[in-house]
Amino acid sequence: MSFPVDVVVMAAGKGTRMKSSKPKVLHRLGGRALAQHVIDTAARVSARSVVVITGHGAEQVEAGLVAPVVDAGAALKLQFVRQEPQLGTGHAVQQAVPVLADDGVTLVLSGDVPLTRPETLQALLHLCGGQHLALLTLDMPDPTGYGRIVRAADGSVAAIVEHKDASEAQRAITEIYSGIMAVPTRLLRGWLARLDNRNAQGEYYLTDVVKFAVSDGLKVAAHRIADSLQVAGVNSPVQLAELERAYQRRVADRLMEQGVRLADPARLDVRGTLVCGQDVEIDVNCVFEGRVEIGAGARIGANCVIASAVIGEGVVIHPFTHIDGEKAGVSVGAGALVGPFARLRPGAKLGREVHIGNFVEVKNSTLADGAKANHLAYLGDATVGERVNYGAGSITANYDGANKHRTVIEADVHVGSNCVLVAPVTIGAGGTVGGGSTITKDTPAGALSVARGRQTVIANWQRPAKKKG
Ligand code: UD1
Ligand code: CA
Repeated sequence: MSFPVDVVVMAAGKGTRMKSSKPKVLHRLGGRALAQHVIDTAARVSARSVVVITGHGAEQVEAGLVAPVVDAGAALKLQFVRQEPQLGTGHAVQQAVPVLADDGVTLVLSGDVPLTRPETLQALLHLCGGQHLALLTLDMPDPTGYGRIVRAADGSVAAIVEHKDASEAQRAITEIYSGIMAVPTRLLRGWLARLDNRNAQGEYYLTDVVKFAVSDGLKVAAHRIADSLQVAGVNSPVQLAELERAYQRRVADRLMEQGVRLADPARLDVRGTLVCGQDVEIDVNCVFEGRVEIGAGARIGANCVIASAVIGEGVVIHPFTHIDGEKAGVSVGAGALVGPFARLRPGAKLGREVHIGNFVEVKNSTLADGAKANHLAYLGDATVGERVNYGAGSITANYDGANKHRTVIEADVHVGSNCVLVAPVTIGAGGTVGGGSTITKDTPAGALSVARGRQTVIANWQRPAKKKG
């Protein structure tokens, strides 16, 4: 666009029908607040700034929204203005005009309308061209409640008449105003100053600017779309759930267009950002949260929940696995096998070809290439070397009730079944921990440590060689 775009997001309304103590625009869709979607869309039409008008739950709304990061880390300018009390949509935008510059175009959006496509807004801005008032309109089979687009005999837009103010003939009009307009800011400023509230609702209507444009002899442009999803607002939990499914379908379609094989696009939930390499397969009922990257050829089994993680190439995550990296993240090396029923917690870093089997929990631990913990085990605050075999039922006792300590298990160690490694403790390379042992002392490289009762016995012992053939 050859002119700057400043976005005004209306978000002062109450949203009574959500029946929630949370402000309406903070309800989440695809893991993000409704109004955050609107702000992020503003960034995608290269807006210069976003002004959010808050009222009901203003403090929460202001704390709950962030400026999106646009290329090279430059953040778009995000501002808030308060509207107190709420006297209508025109009154809402009046609160924003003092912070808007006259050289730009104001794009008016609503904080509860999350699925407008950037291309649609680009088309509207193009129609505005920095000169005209441009409205986004839509045909609705049942236009009840909406502002009607009244057109003159020559087809030009003459006015928007609110449902409650409309005559019977006007109510028969099915073309409605979506709530989205683009308008040169210097014109908007003048028109808003002329608003009054002499109408059925006693409100200051933003839609009255159409009347002023026409009486000033200016053309009003309309961009008429067919896709009602793009202008659908959220007023109730039912509508929120409907838009959530629509949003998820969009995400699923985008992934499939990139080649991702989804067993069922209707049974996928991405509540954040999912980035997939080539030939990724995702079975049904998987939930992804935060930023998740999945490497080429990886397969995710049914019913997995994966958050804040990097999954390497060719990894297989078996069904019912829960991975949550939170802040520290989780990484799974190429060719690793995880699950079924595995749990990877923050700071789990698995090397290549690591195997984590059923009912194994890993937290803040590094497992080097080829390490295995196949059944019923816990590894917390541990450093595990290459090819270590960690037996069923074994755990690291990493917490003494006050502090956490590390367990170091060097390369090629075998830890038998039902062992307790009491940290801080080190098992030297190639060592063996006998089954059922509670180990409180370091084990030198190559040694066997066995504990019976409260005593740890260190012995020289040769592990049997693997049978050939
Ligand atoms: C408005 C339009 C109507 C259009 C419809 C589309 C007006 C007068 N009417 O209707 O032509 O068909 O949207 O959905 O503009 N808000 C404030 N402060 C206020 C009032 C509203 O911030 O004082 C916000 C609301 O939170 C909401 C948005 O503005 O995000 C629209 O308000 P809403 O009451 O839903 O609009 P309608 O009056 O239904
Ligand atoms: Ca209203």
